[in-house]
Amino acid sequence: MIKINDNFCELPASYLFSDVAKRINAFKAEHPDVEIIKMGIGDVTQPICPAAIQAMENAVADQADRVTFHGYGPEQGYDFLRRRIVDVDYRSRNIDIDIDEIFISDGAKSDTGNIGDILSTDCKVAVTDPVYPVYVDTNVMAGRAGHLVDGRWSRIEYLPCTAENGFIPSLPKDNPDVIYLCYPNNPTGTTLNRSQLEKWVEYAKDNNALILFDSAYEAYITEPDIPHSIYEIPGAKEVAIEFRSFSKTAGFTGLRCGYTVVPKELKGLSKNGDEVSLNALWNRRQCTKFNGASYIVQRAAEALYSTKGRHQVKETIAYYMRNASLLRNGLSAAGLEVWGGVNAPYIWVKTPGGLSSWEFFDLLLEKCGIAGTPGVGFGPSGEGYFRLTAFGRYEDTVAAVERLSSLKLNK
Ligand code: MLT
Repeated sequence: MIKINDNFCELPASYLFSDVAKRINAFKAEHPDVEIIKMGIGDVTQPICPAAIQAMENAVADQADRVTFHGYGPEQGYDFLRRRIVDVDYRSRNIDIDIDEIFISDGAKSDTGNIGDILSTDCKVAVTDPVYPVYVDTNVMAGRAGHLVDGRWSRIEYLPCTAENGFIPSLPKDNPDVIYLCYPNNPTGTTLNRSQLEKWVEYAKDNNALILFDSAYEAYITEPDIPHSIYEIPGAKEVAIEFRSFSKTAGFTGLRCGYTVVPKELKGLSKNGDEVSLNALWNRRQCTKFNGASYIVQRAAEALYSTKGRHQVKETIAYYMRNASLLRNGLSAAGLEVWGGVNAPYIWVKTPGGLSSWEFFDLLLEKCGIAGTPGVGFGPSGEGYFRLTAFGRYEDTVAAVERLSSLKLNK
């Protein structure tokens, strides 16, 4: 029989959101009459904006004509989209990013998962805790994580983010080579302000660490002092790779498109002691393993940057953020402690009465027919917390808040 990658045997049997889905399906089978409001996985519910739909229709027509047909595109993405990204996402914020530093992909999940391909399997990794499970699981697959002992991987440094420290992680102590930061944060919905993020850039510079900065939720930022990009911090181009996604910004979870910025300033060390460009390595990796996001999807993404597209995207984000504030208020009125929902579409809730995350999951499902995500699924410091998303339909969010108010009576 074929020998397998044994690192996979270290992993828990299934991915967090598959586990949650299984539990919900089991509940549904037992209670077919309960209409479950799903607030678990952060999947969007609103249609893609008209500007992007029109662009896709035009792109489909292009594909039907020999003259305008597109086959394989550039592995790095089409310049028509990369240029818009450079101008709108970066130059408008006085950040100088070169078009060759942008790599279009099928989303931030793939890129944050794949980036480890260009890093040594010896690298020590630090994650904020709780954390988006992809960062940890993909390092387990690569053999960087060690063994799972009491809910913690032995070679990963966990940086707790809890109510006690205001969800602000302390700087690492174990001298990690790679640090994953996700801000606005999934799952807690909390943020780092400019001076807090500056400390991380300074730390990475002083300690030769690489920051993998996931800003998939930057479009949800409403407060002025919260950086949208790590490159707003001077010197960050020397220490950070940034991941962006159109999934949550523009409802592309089903379409699939995102991008990664790998600055040319970033250097790594080969085992021979040679300095190597990470941009060149990622380019090599993408050219070998990826044939580019589809032409039609990239045309849709380009349209998001048009005047109409930007306006329509903002409207949908406002729709979700109205849900977020409804949820925040509803949960607080039910007597629960909540965070997030101001600069992010996630609400992080302290479970009441010392309930564990999974106990609260069961309680909400049974008493309110609401399905969320248990905080412990995101890491040990998520125990005793629970996540709800604001990506639902407005009517469902209103119904959820109503059901939650009855929870107060039942407590
Ligand atoms: C989440 O619910 O955390 C996200 O939807 C997962 C993802 O973006 O892959």
